[in-house]
Amino acid sequence: MTNTASSLVGVRFIGSGSAVPDRVLSNYDLAQMVDTTDEWIASRTGIKERHIADGEADSVANLAAKAGQKAIAAAGLTASDIDLIILATSTSDDLFGTAGRVQKILGAERAVAFDLVAACSGFVFGLVTASQYIRSGVYKNVLLLGADVLSRWVDWQDRRTCILFGDGAGALLLQASPDHQPNNLLGFEMRSDGKGNDLLNINYSGRSTFEPISMNGQEVYRFAVRRVPEVIEKSLHSANLEVHDLDWLILHQANQRIIDAVVNRFGIDPAKAVSNMGKYGNTSAASIPIALDEWVQAGKIQPNHLVAIAGFGAGLSWGSAVFRWG
Ligand code: UT7
Repeated sequence: MTNTASSLVGVRFIGSGSAVPDRVLSNYDLAQMVDTTDEWIASRTGIKERHIADGEADSVANLAAKAGQKAIAAAGLTASDIDLIILATSTSDDLFGTAGRVQKILGAERAVAFDLVAACSGFVFGLVTASQYIRSGVYKNVLLLGADVLSRWVDWQDRRTCILFGDGAGALLLQASPDHQPNNLLGFEMRSDGKGNDLLNINYSGRSTFEPISMNGQEVYRFAVRRVPEVIEKSLHSANLEVHDLDWLILHQANQRIIDAVVNRFGIDPAKAVSNMGKYGNTSAASIPIALDEWVQAGKIQPNHLVAIAGFGAGLSWGSAVFRWG
């Protein structure tokens, strides 16, 4: 199918959902496991507790399906309306992909389903990917999921990483706008730099096994503080907008200090910078849609509000998208 710019279909953002495991692991619990304190973790990261998967009930597929069901219901649709399911995850239940399992649980029989792996940038890259299928007129209803169970891949003896991560899933329903209605995806920018690939990995270690997560925290921190504002500015620029036009800024929930640094750099009201990592830790591809859903459920994000999201992480990869809610 070919399209000229003038015939591109608009994208709407019409429903969100999220799901986390019931089991909560606090900083105090972690202090019983490794040489750390609540004070160190909270002051260096902003994290107080995180939700941790407890067996098969909290598999990537089950968490993603729960979040997806809520997003489909919030959009006023049923599973049979879904044309495409994109599951952004780096912690698949199955190396062949988990999206098919989600499709089965949802009963979304008409949909085509596939996984997208881009670590903590997965939700942003997935949102741009999903939008292209809508813009080109190929699909009408796309369910985008971000789900990760990084607790499976954490070395619980490594205090530099085990304090950071939590498990969960978030979902967003994107829909083709009716004829001549505006496109609510206003701008985006995606970047990769493989030269930084060895800064954050879950490496294959031979004989059907992987190493636990390894990270150069200081370098990743520096990368995020430097690169994230650039992609936000670029996506705003392509939308002819300025940072002060934004109602909400949702960064990947990795570290409160990274959010604070970006807020300071832009000089925006800190209340516009969504933060919930105190309760969830870093849930990788799920962190942005969990935060988005929480703010939508609370009635803070309203129809027509301008929202910028930005993800960053392994790859290295980073990206931003600006959209109007609704
Ligand atoms: O989602 C993917 C993106 N990932 C990120 O965005 C992570 C970015 N990086 C970070 O958020 C931060 O680098 C961390 C939170 C991971 C670490 O904070 P930091 O301020 O960079 O700490 P550091 O690694 O420089 O360590 C400072 C000290 C060290 O001790 P010495 O060498 O100064 O004696 C560490 O051994 O803190 C020590 N330390 C800890 N102490 C208590 C490291 N981890 C812990 C801990 N508890 N859990």
